Parts: sequence; structure tokens; C-alpha cells
Amino acid sequence: MSKRLRHHVNPLSQQYLAFTPKNLTPPGEVLEVELGCAEGEFLFRRASQKPGHHVVGIEIRRDLVAKINTMALDLPPGQRVEAIFANLNIHIPTLFAPASVDRFFINFPDPWFKKQHHKRRVVTPELLAELCEALRPGGELFFQSDIFDLALDALSVIEEFGEGLVHNVRGPWSFFPHNPYGVPTRREVHVSEKGGDIWRILYTRL
Ligand SMILES: C[S@@+](CC[C@H](N)C(=O)[O-])C[C@H]1O[C@@H](n2cnc3c(N)ncnc32)[C@H](O)[C@@H]1O
Repeated sequence: MSKRLRHHVNPLSQQYLAFTPKNLTPPGEVLEVELGCAEGEFLFRRASQKPGHHVVGIEIRRDLVAKINTMALDLPPGQRVEAIFANLNIHIPTLFAPASVDRFFINFPDPWFKKQHHKRRVVTPELLAELCEALRPGGELFFQSDIFDLALDALSVIEEFGEGLVHNVRGPWSFFPHNPYGVPTRREVHVSEKGGDIWRILYTRL
């Protein structure tokens, strides 16, 4: 019987809370991390745009991680992509030393619409604290989603719990008008082609 491809896993189920991720290879000069990288399209686009950056994807679906790391073997010299099988809800402090990360991207996280599943949403006060600890001063935290409720939720958490830690580049409680990095994610391409709205947030670490 063929194995069903899972698009959603529950990050709070026991099997995803009880493992230790492998260590990151020694980071390059600029370390950028996408949380929930899926097939890694954004990672490869970003690496080709920014040779020399160490572009890391965190992903809870192990099969996708293996695929990305195999593809990364064929990158031209200078381009560096690495995927890590890890649960972003619990593994950020294990993976990243304090003040070591230049940029976190949270691109189109899983929505978890049902009210009883809201606790699975990615941007929580706890995650924000961990990301702030891992970001170097001046480092960036970027979030984007085509689901307004999710974006508003993320904005509220960061505005409420990020005081003194991060600065909203567009001013308090403001969305950022475009993707400032110039390379889209897979989901971003899909939403843009359909003419959908995308809400974005950009903070810098104080
Ligand atoms: C909707 S996809 C977005 C993929 C990509 N960032 C994009 O914009 O096209 C969300 C991804 O996050 C992953 N994910 C969800 N919860 C996670 C967690 N706790 N830890 C790591 N990855 C997670 C999912 O497996 C999925 O691949």
C-alpha cells in the first residue's frame, strides 16, 4: 500500500515532542532561517539570490527535509541550503545559540482554523521569546500569511509581548506593504497568481 503524503501534522503530538534534532552544521557568516519550509522552494531561491548566506529550513515533515538536503548537494559553490527535521514549537533554543541568527522567516504557517486547534498556531509568546533570544541585534523577524486572522494574531502577539525586544519597521500595529526580500515562497506564488491578499509583518531586533 502506498504511504499517504501528510500535509498537516500535529506539532503537539507526542511523537513530535520527543525527539532531539541533529545539530546545525557550523553557521556561515549570515544565518537565515525559514520556520516551516515545506519543500524548500524559498530556501533555494534565497540561496541563489544571496550566495554566501547560510539558508536553513526547519520542517517537521522528515521526508521533505531529506529531499531538500539531497537537492542541496547539487547547489553551485557558495550557495548553502540546509534543512533540519525539528519542531519549531520546542527546538529553537536547542538549534540556535543566543544572538546567532540574522533573519527568521515565518512564511504562510499552517492555519489551524478550528478554535480547539488555535494552540497549535505558530506565533506564541513563548516562540517570540525564543526567536528574540536567537536573533542578533538588528536581526529581522518577518511573517507573512494570506489568512488575515492569522496575521492579526501574529501581529497582536508580537506587539503585546515584543515590547523592548523588537521594533515594528512600519510603526506599532502596522503591516508591511510588500515582501522586501524579492524572492517568493511557493505559497506566495500561488496566492499572488490567484490575486489574493497577503498580510506581512517586519520587525527588527533591538
Ligand atoms: C503551509 S506550509 C508553508 C510552506 C512555505 N513556508 C511556503 O510559504 O510555501 C507550512 C509548513 O510548516 C510546517 N510545520 C508546521 N508546524 C511545524 C512545526 N511545529 N515545526 C516545523 N515545521 C512545521 C508544515 O509541515 C508545512 O510544511
